[in-house]
Amino acid sequence: MTSPLLELDHVTKRFGRVVIAEDLSMTVNSGDTVGIVGPNGAGKTSLFGLISGDLAPDGGEVRLAGRAVTRLDAAGRCRLGVGRTYQVPRPFADMTVFENVLVAAQQGAGLRRRASYVAAAEALDMTGMSGQANLAAERLGLLQRKRLELARAVATKPTLLLLDEVAGGLTDPEVAQLVEIVRGVNAEGTAVIWIEHVVRALTAVVSRLICLAGGKFVGDGMPATVLANPAVREVFLGSEFTAALAGGSLTADAAAEPPTAADVPPSTPDRIEP
Ligand SMILES: Nc1ncnc2c1ncn2[C@@H]1O[C@H](COP(=O)(O)OP(=O)(O)OP(=O)(O)O)[C@@H](O)[C@H]1O
Ligand SMILES: [Mg+2]
Repeated sequence: MTSPLLELDHVTKRFGRVVIAEDLSMTVNSGDTVGIVGPNGAGKTSLFGLISGDLAPDGGEVRLAGRAVTRLDAAGRCRLGVGRTYQVPRPFADMTVFENVLVAAQQGAGLRRRASYVAAAEALDMTGMSGQANLAAERLGLLQRKRLELARAVATKPTLLLLDEVAGGLTDPEVAQLVEIVRGVNAEGTAVIWIEHVVRALTAVVSRLICLAGGKFVGDGMPATVLANPAVREVFLGSEFTAALAGGSLTADAAAEPPTAADVPPSTPDRIEP
């Protein structure tokens, strides 16, 4: 029997007294699309750190394709197929877009010479960034920085792609373009786990949704089912939404609909580095 692509097995992580991952277990298979929602400070980005190797857990095990990688660092896990974007893009500002992506292909995927150039060009093509290839990264606006972040992750040739709020701060048409890009990456067989406050972007792509709050999974299943779960509504949409629901200021129809971006509390603003 083939092992799942990713397994978290009773993973726990604390920062001092704050538990940001409490006995978390989950399985993701090749080609899966999983969305993660949850309030600010829920532990979503930290969960990515535990998967990518940026954070070491205090307990439990992380496995990739059946192999225990709990003690393997981020560079090692990247070579095994874990690509990630960061919530706040930090490209090499004085390098061109192409050079940024080339570094990812060479250092992340371990590709050399022609193969690395081909991977970098393909990643730019896939993310719609070919036209900006020769621009210095510091000249990019927010949308293009997000795309470059995605291109860098794609250039590492991931089998598992972790996206951390790549749609935050974008306009509706920009979100729609991003959704198409992520669908394209997934169509090539890459599993995607996507943290996002822009729920309509997630529901356009993922077949499974997890809600994380206080380092625990509050809901896990089909997106519509998870979003309709009262416990998820309470922690994710907040007591204000729940009170409005109880007071009847939202119609039953509106309450039955999955929340839209307008319902969702704003994310931490994306910063653009100077
Ligand atoms: N390196 C760290 N040291 C100490 N505490 C940390 C560290 N990283 C994160 N935290 C804390 O852990 C908690 C979870 O943070 P995390 O960034 O994972 O949340 P998040 O769900 O991604 O939030 P957001 O939606 O705002 O991005 C927060 O209380 C945060 O302040
Ligand atoms: Mg985060």
